[in-house]
Amino acid sequence: MFRVVPLLSKRKEYMRKPLIAGNWKMYKTINEAIALANGLKRELLDFDKADIVICPPFTCLSEVYEVIMESEIKLGAQNLCWEKEGAYTGEISPLMLKDSGCEFVIIGHSERRKYFLESNELINKKIKAALVVGLSPICCVGETLEEREAGKTIEIIKNQLEGCLKGFAIEDMLGMVVAYEPVWAIGTGKNATALQAQEVHKFIRNWLAENFSSGFADNVRILYGGSVKPANIKDLMKEADVDGALVGGASLEVSSFTQIVKNAI
Ligand code: PGA
Repeated sequence: MFRVVPLLSKRKEYMRKPLIAGNWKMYKTINEAIALANGLKRELLDFDKADIVICPPFTCLSEVYEVIMESEIKLGAQNLCWEKEGAYTGEISPLMLKDSGCEFVIIGHSERRKYFLESNELINKKIKAALVVGLSPICCVGETLEEREAGKTIEIIKNQLEGCLKGFAIEDMLGMVVAYEPVWAIGTGKNATALQAQEVHKFIRNWLAENFSSGFADNVRILYGGSVKPANIKDLMKEADVDGALVGGASLEVSSFTQIVKNAI
């Protein structure tokens, strides 16, 4: 009997399940969130060719979870505190996220780095806190336009990876996801080309292989984020190291997010 050996370019199709995550940012009241979640559930109820994750604001997590709990759609949060509990006014702990039904959490999004001054060091603590309770961190990295134009993209990404993933052992990082989100592409309508994304994704995977192991690197899903739309996801997903997307604006409507999920496969 012959064993079917997949082509190299198809490698990712059996090693890494595609993952499409919707980052709702600071949009949607509870009723609006329930309506959006219901719409997505209707369209994507049994869709299991990709992991689908939606990340509503904290205030809607439980209600959205009630809607999607019997579907294939998974829940994520957009941030968390690095501590389990304590006197941290205004913060939300990893355990609270688990308690609300979350399996994923976005960490180190560029908006948090920019407006809330999150450093790689802080992001490292948050990733650790997420992993300890079994939440999958979606660790965001990405360069600004000035950094890209100065030819510093790879240097910046390397620096962010070193800081964010410092001190982890492979066995600590179960479920780890990395999202490459060039800051200049977020919310601008100007996405990175598939080749630009692939270049950085490949660097990230090689860096993971060198610093952890190639087996580990082969299994980590690397998402692209920044103006992902139904019209550009297909090309991005053709690249060998693009395993999915982190979608902002286009995740706020049932039709565009559903179309992105379907076009990604
Ligand atoms: P965008 O946002 O899709 O609206 O560009 C992506 C993100 O910020 O995660």
